[in-house]
Amino acid sequence: MTNRDIVWHEASITKEEYQQKNKHKSSILWLTGLSGSGKSTIANAAARELFEQGYQVIVLDGDNIRHGLNKDLGFSDDDRKENIRRIGEVAKLFVQQGTIVITAFISPFREDRDQVRELVEEGEFNEIYVKCDLDICEKRDPKGLYKKARNGEIPFFTGIDSPYEEPNAPELVLDSGKYEREECTGRLIDFVKNSLA
Ligand SMILES: Nc1ncnc2c1ncn2[C@@H]1O[C@H](COP(=O)(O)OP(=O)(O)OP(=O)(O)O)[C@@H](O)[C@H]1O
Ligand SMILES: [Mg+2]
Repeated sequence: MTNRDIVWHEASITKEEYQQKNKHKSSILWLTGLSGSGKSTIANAAARELFEQGYQVIVLDGDNIRHGLNKDLGFSDDDRKENIRRIGEVAKLFVQQGTIVITAFISPFREDRDQVRELVEEGEFNEIYVKCDLDICEKRDPKGLYKKARNGEIPFFTGIDSPYEEPNAPELVLDSGKYEREECTGRLIDFVKNSLA
């Protein structure tokens, strides 16, 4: 058997039916930004709030996915690409099932983020740039990773010795170096509600 012998099955439940049941549309909120910029903090706070208001929502977070689905992957450029590709496919499945998917991955490469955008329908991929200067992220260093990276214990760390490519035209910018976390979370929630209305 080869890939050509695999036949696509039409689903018996459509995305539109799921969305009707949930009473809202589904899409991906793709948070991207440096380590320590606040992606996980904002994603989880926003998801909690949306959940309490009756939205169907899930967070896909960097570390958790690397413990499971992607535990075979490292941090080479190829593995980072594959990491994002798989997450994109998983996010697409959830969108198909009517869920609002908030992802929290550094996802430093523009090309990889664009590839996920191509996977789903127009308007279903929202690039959210969690913007914060490197020196602030490094001062926060919530996981002590920058310290390790500076000591040479973590090679190819984004922002230190591996590049971060800023989004060219993000759907939303959350300036987490300037605004408090509550403010950033609120802006994300407002964006979700407006974009799904
Ligand atoms: N405006 C803000 N928004 C979000 N987090 C903030 C803000 N101001 C300060 N913080 C703090 O910054 C840290 C952000 O850490 P967090 O783990 O959310 O970053 P991350 O982007 O998910 O990093 P990583 O890519 O390493 O997972 C937290 O300790 C959080 O409390
Ligand atoms: Mg995180």
